[in-house]
Amino acid sequence: MSLMMDRIDALRKEFKSAIAQATLVRDVEAIRLKFTGRKGSVPELMKELKDCSIDEKREFGPKLNDFRQEIEAAIATRAKELVDGAEKAKASAIENFDVSARVPSSRKKGTTHPYSQIVERVENTFLSMGYSIFDGPEIEDDYHNFGALNIPENHPARDMHDTLWLNRRSHLLRTHTSTIQIHAMESRKLPIAGIAPGRTFRHEAVDASHDVMFWQCEGLFIDKGITMSHLFGTAKAFLSSFFDTDDIDIRIRPGYFPFVEPGVEIDMRCVFCKDGCSVCKKSKWVEVFPGGMVHPNVLKSAGIDPEVYSGFAFGFGLSRLVMLMHGISDIRLLSSGKIPFLRQF
Ligand code: PHE
Repeated sequence: MSLMMDRIDALRKEFKSAIAQATLVRDVEAIRLKFTGRKGSVPELMKELKDCSIDEKREFGPKLNDFRQEIEAAIATRAKELVDGAEKAKASAIENFDVSARVPSSRKKGTTHPYSQIVERVENTFLSMGYSIFDGPEIEDDYHNFGALNIPENHPARDMHDTLWLNRRSHLLRTHTSTIQIHAMESRKLPIAGIAPGRTFRHEAVDASHDVMFWQCEGLFIDKGITMSHLFGTAKAFLSSFFDTDDIDIRIRPGYFPFVEPGVEIDMRCVFCKDGCSVCKKSKWVEVFPGGMVHPNVLKSAGIDPEVYSGFAFGFGLSRLVMLMHGISDIRLLSSGKIPFLRQF
């Protein structure tokens, strides 16, 4: 009964062409069902063989079995090829990912916030001068914000800080980044040289130049033999690198902060004008850097011997610096989250 043989051959042809065209594992599975599934062509032929003569069964039974095995093997091979190929394609897509590809210019890009930009710039400037970056918590205890900084309870200087106290009366939102001086002295080995940019909070009446949240950057340098001139030199070096000019002039006025002695206010000759502008309010000088020599009491409270070590500290307003640089007249814009404002940076 060569009819059976013809049908097997026809099926084989059909199978071969189907499997060659399969490009997805899903296709292979469909082919498997069609040929060897429960209602597939091969089991159908086997069923028909039951009604055939013994001779035919003898001849075609093994042929059909071989055919079935041939199909199963071909299916397994093809499925593996496809799975391997898909994995390879995935890997090569990752490997060949073009990080330099241009994003279509029509796509709207985000920008970093002016605060983030200035923090990065200040950090890079000080890192290049060998400083480290310090950090500290925004929620503080009384000791780190005041006590350890030589501002004991009932000290009038506490009135200068309109403090936002938390429900737990011993805790507050830090009113300045000077708290980080104490954390640094408590946790680091001497000598210490670092800056700490961060958010600070005060219970202010909000207006164009005051907000309840603003940014400061603290600086601290402690070693043997540190003097005021190191502070002035550092201030000049920083300003010169930050404003990218060698032409930096500073002047010093006395300033009072309980945690420094002596305390100073460092002004910079306005880098934006020669004879007065809106930034320096026509005075040609811009107030930038309060600072001074770390008070011996502060060193002592952190367990540092003021007879052996000395240091300077400074803390400037990053919010003010951002406003100066970009000519922003209202501090509230900086934390407003207003997209048209932010898009400009
Ligand atoms: N912490 C002070 C302030 O917030 C600034 C300051 C820091 C002054 C370090 C001197 C030394 O006003």
